[in-house]
Amino acid sequence: MELRHLRYFVAVAEEKNFTRAAKRLFIAQPPLSRQMQQLEEELGVSLIERDSRPLRLTEAGRFFYSHAQQLLGEAADLKSMTQRVGKIERTLSIGFVASTLYGMLPKIIRRFRSEYNAVEISLHEMTTMEQIQALKDGRIDVGFGRIRYEDSSIRRIVLREERLIVALPVGHPLTESATPLSLKDLIHETLIVFPKAPRPSFADQVLAAFSDRAIHLEKILEVRELQIAVGLVAAGEGIAIVPASLQGMKRNDVSYMELGEKHTTSPIIFSVRMSDQSDELRKLLRLIYDVYDAENIPHVKEFL
Ligand code: BEZ
Repeated sequence: MELRHLRYFVAVAEEKNFTRAAKRLFIAQPPLSRQMQQLEEELGVSLIERDSRPLRLTEAGRFFYSHAQQLLGEAADLKSMTQRVGKIERTLSIGFVASTLYGMLPKIIRRFRSEYNAVEISLHEMTTMEQIQALKDGRIDVGFGRIRYEDSSIRRIVLREERLIVALPVGHPLTESATPLSLKDLIHETLIVFPKAPRPSFADQVLAAFSDRAIHLEKILEVRELQIAVGLVAAGEGIAIVPASLQGMKRNDVSYMELGEKHTTSPIIFSVRMSDQSDELRKLLRLIYDVYDAENIPHVKEFL
C-alpha cells in the first residue's frame, strides 16, 4: 500500500462519487477505480458499498478513512518539518503565551541575544495550541506554553511549575486577609478566566483547580486574553487566578494575594519538534537552566 492509495481513497470517500474524485485528483476515472480495487484486494475487505448512490463507506471503509486522513496529515507535517530542519540558517523563531512575558522570558531573550548575537531571534505571541501547529508548519522552532498537550511529533519539556495567585480589585474585602486565601474563599466571586479559545487553555487549568476540590463557582466570565482579565479585575468585574509572575505587572488598581493551596500551579513548557536537536535549541535550554540556577528557581533539568 502506498500513500497514493490513501490519497485516492480519501478523495473518493469525501466526494462520494468516482467521477468527482477523479477530477479532484486530476486523473481519469478508470485508473482510479482500478487503484481502489487493488487497495481492497490487498486489504482483503470492501471499503466502499459500490451499489450505493452517493457512494457509502463500509464499516471497514470508515475505519480506514479516519486513519488514512491522519497518516496523510502526518506525511504533510513531515514534509514541512524536514524542510525547516534542513535549512542551515542561524535563526530562532519563538512562540510564547502572553503570561510568560511577566516571568523569565524577557531576561532569557536578552541574555540569549547578548551571548549569541549571530542568531536572529523572532518572537510570536500565540496560545499553546497554536504553538503546536506552528511547530509542525515550521513557523516557529520552539514554543513556551502551559498546556500538556500530547502530540507524537512534539517533544515537551516541563521547565518549572509556577505557583498561581489571585488578582483582586484594590480594596476588595478579601485583600484584608492576613493569611493566604483558599480557593473556597472565592466561591461567591465572579471568576474571570482566559483565554476563551482555543481550548484546552490556561482557563481549563484554573477551572480544574476548583472542580478538583468540588468547589462550584457561581459565576464564570471567559475572556480573550490575560490583559483583558486583569483590566476587568481592576474595574471590579471579578477576580482572576493568574501565574505568580504577574505580580511583576504593578498596577495600583489590582492587588495580588497568595493561595494557601501551594500545589495549585501551572507548568511552563518548552516544546520543540520531536527530532529537532539544533545547536540553537540546546544553547537556549542550557541558558534557561543557568538563569534558573542563578535565581534559585526550583526546576528539574532535562536536556535535548
Ligand atoms: C519562566 O518564566 O520560567 C520562563 C518563561 C519563558 C521561557 C522560559 C522560562
